[in-house]
Amino acid sequence: MKRHRIAWLPGDGVGVDVSEAARIVLDAAKVPLEYVHGDIGWEFWCKEGDAFPQRTIELLKSVDAAMFGAITSKPAKAAEAELCPELRGRGLTYRSPIVRMRQMFDLYISLRPCKAYAGNPLNYKEGLDFVMFRENTEDLYSGVEFSPVPKELSQVLTAQSKAFAPFAKLEGDQYAVSCKVNTRRGSERIVRAAFEFARKNKRKKVTVIHKANVVRATDGLFLEIAREVAKGYPEVQFDEANVDAIMMWLLKNPFNYDVLVAPNLYGDIASDLCAQMVGGLGFGCSGNIGEKLAVFEPTHGSAPKYTGQYKVNPIATILAAKMMLEWLGETDAAARVESAVAAVIKEQKVRTYDMGGASTTLDMARAVADKL
Ligand code: IPM
Ligand code: MG
Repeated sequence: MKRHRIAWLPGDGVGVDVSEAARIVLDAAKVPLEYVHGDIGWEFWCKEGDAFPQRTIELLKSVDAAMFGAITSKPAKAAEAELCPELRGRGLTYRSPIVRMRQMFDLYISLRPCKAYAGNPLNYKEGLDFVMFRENTEDLYSGVEFSPVPKELSQVLTAQSKAFAPFAKLEGDQYAVSCKVNTRRGSERIVRAAFEFARKNKRKKVTVIHKANVVRATDGLFLEIAREVAKGYPEVQFDEANVDAIMMWLLKNPFNYDVLVAPNLYGDIASDLCAQMVGGLGFGCSGNIGEKLAVFEPTHGSAPKYTGQYKVNPIATILAAKMMLEWLGETDAAARVESAVAAVIKEQKVRTYDMGGASTTLDMARAVADKL
């Protein structure tokens, strides 16, 4: 039997707690996995000036998949202040390791299933089952940003865009520019991934989220490509929604939605709403999927105030581990983990604080492991 090699990246804060919990479940599922720990997180920013050290990048090149916990991030000034003294004043800038990882390894699909497990007291409605496909490498996350804005850039924009006129005379430090960059290739492959998923899993509908009525160039491109791709999947219903409107409609008529596909930022926003409808951050799981590598994580952050308290709900991370098993082709083990999670939720005996109980992170993990 092939042993899959897994990079194990707990990160910091509650990332450590929930990773320990996921490991209890994976061990109980008895899948042939080999784990290699990777350094990542705030500690390495402070000590080394890089939260995502080169050795961890190398590790990721050598594995089949990775599990990632969570990482603390702080605004620029606070980040600089926490650097060890010899690294201060060197112009080091903190950039989210997970965003870098997604781009560096071209993990272009952010797959976020949001399923209401029966009996979860936090479900907005029973029976909800959305799947979000969020583009994961481009858009407003491109990192092409200017603050202050260089004179050369403002000259080009003045020459190229009438709409830039109101900003043309501003001093560079009086405004900032973040570029939303969307490519044909990037848009095509995420929309195709959503339709392929719908076809394979007999899902009835794909809804593309956009704001093409205002953001004409980039969202216009995304929508045009989505319409084009949709033609190749006549058995799947195609639907379009403005990002603002769908925030209302998702709450109003949640059963009208099935598979959702969005550019990076709208996908980020909409996936938090979808997660909340099926129990909140304790249930939001996520896969960052590329052609060669995939990294699985809970959608929540590192919640530093709960560090080491074993308080937060590990189900999001356990479900992320289940997604990893699926991706590795361990579909039987994945199904067993999901059934175990569903059974524990249904029984309502073991509940973490978010679910109105007092069980710990590890109580929850052991309860799921016991069902295996
Ligand atoms: C997410 C998170 C990240 C994002 C943060 C932590 C950079 O919100 O995975 O949804 O914005 O993508
Ligand atoms: Mg987010």
